[in-house]
Amino acid sequence: MKTISETITCPVSEIRELLQHVGVRVTLRGWLYGKRAGGKVVFLVVRDGTGLAQCVVEASAVPAFAAATDVTQESSLTLTGMVRAEPRAPGGAEVAVETLEVLQRAEAYPIGRKAHGADFLFSHRHLWLRAPRQTALLRIRHTVTQSVRSFFDRQGFTLIDTPILVPGAGEDRHSLFTVDYFGTPIYLTQTGQLYLESACMALGKVYSFGPTFRAEKSKTRRHLTEFWMVEPEWAFAELEQVMALAEGLVCTVAADVLARHRDDLAALGRDAAALERIVAPFPQLTYSEAVTVLRSSETRARLESDMETRRAQLQARTEELKAAEAESTAARKGWKQDQAETRARELREAVQELEQELRVAPEHLAQAQSFEWGRDLGGSDETILSRCFDRPVFVTEYPREAKAFYMKVKDEDPRVVRNFDLLAPEGYGEIIGGSQREERLPVLLEAMHAKSLRPEDYDWYLDLRRYGSVPHGGFGLGIERILTWLCGLQHVRETIPFPRTMGRVHP
Ligand code: 4AD
Ligand code: MG
Repeated sequence: MKTISETITCPVSEIRELLQHVGVRVTLRGWLYGKRAGGKVVFLVVRDGTGLAQCVVEASAVPAFAAATDVTQESSLTLTGMVRAEPRAPGGAEVAVETLEVLQRAEAYPIGRKAHGADFLFSHRHLWLRAPRQTALLRIRHTVTQSVRSFFDRQGFTLIDTPILVPGAGEDRHSLFTVDYFGTPIYLTQTGQLYLESACMALGKVYSFGPTFRAEKSKTRRHLTEFWMVEPEWAFAELEQVMALAEGLVCTVAADVLARHRDDLAALGRDAAALERIVAPFPQLTYSEAVTVLRSSETRARLESDMETRRAQLQARTEELKAAEAESTAARKGWKQDQAETRARELREAVQELEQELRVAPEHLAQAQSFEWGRDLGGSDETILSRCFDRPVFVTEYPREAKAFYMKVKDEDPRVVRNFDLLAPEGYGEIIGGSQREERLPVLLEAMHAKSLRPEDYDWYLDLRRYGSVPHGGFGLGIERILTWLCGLQHVRETIPFPRTMGRVHP
């Protein structure tokens, strides 16, 4: 095997810039994505992380032609050739290959043209990341991260890195991961919030951006055990200002994704119009109003008509599935059969999805209609509420008993707290949870007592209420949750490079 520097005969180009090099000899480095052979010519489709390039190898380029004939999918390679305009090629240009070096000839690649099941793909996540759909998601994730950071930087917030190893719970005690810390049990952080409250008393406006951990024993589409959260915390801010900040953040992130990723969104099959609708002001309702909506006859009627639509969809998909299966059986081995099988698998998944939705729908409807004031909103309640609006909706003032100890009690109605959840539309549900914090020491102590929390475990946190306490608040935005919604995905797990769920920590 030659070293890369030995094979490079001219400056290395990135595929995304190919069109700018028409008439010039370039060297590309990448992996073989696809190949078509036609007698005296081999077409290689090469990917390098910036795009796809069609590279044409003619029989007259003798050693290159032999290498091209032999090279396998996902082999690593470098090639040199002249760039010429070709409107039919991806990117509008192609390379007429003169030399081709295969750095490593790949073994039979496990991910083929046929559709694979989710479990197989997640077991091969280390390779699956190379697929166009996955690179689109990784690029959008990068933009979301960058957009969030520059939003807070522009607003004058200072980034604070909060600890990952912590001595106590920041949210609920049931979802803590325990770590053996030199013989003492400690935990993986669920939130940076308590530390941010400390830092905002030093700097005024702060935020953290990091991994957080919850031992979620539920297998839902919305829960990971390791997820990334951005959390601002703002001294002297009241609830309304914190909500305006959340609204501004979500609008900015959506606009940045739209501005930079129309192609990636199209590759994901996401309708850009859904993102164009994300403009302020977002509707608001209180928890009590949300309960009224859940229990209403309008909600019953809407869910029943939703079920009707689903039943019709299920019937249509089932017919299509039968047709695709028949076609697959009839077709001879080859790409036609692969295509029919892929289609059949997609339809099978869609059918399963619809059957599952129809199975749980009556229970979700019953839960909503008998919703008792005082309970936290469940996933299905959020789905029902968020389907009522075409943009994100704020739900405010939850009952004290349903929420964390640190939320500020509302003076005019001490049964509720000054908090909000932001629910994404189209049934996606909670993407942000936030609140004004209880800054009064006696009220905070009473709230801790009511939740059987020991003040001595929070001594340092309580100090913040002893030394210059001020009104303050903040929120947490789950990066994977907002990505799932912006990208229109069924499940949160594809939005993170290596997902951790109850059933998976590999690879
Ligand atoms: O609502 P949560 O639990 O709020 C907090 O942790 C507060 N301490 C935040 C704050 O005020 N600083 O979580 C915040 C967000 C949720 O709205 C959701 O987007 C995301 O974190 N989240 C999860 N994302 C993926 N998997 C999970 N298991 C998640 N749990 C929460
Ligand atoms: Mg929450």
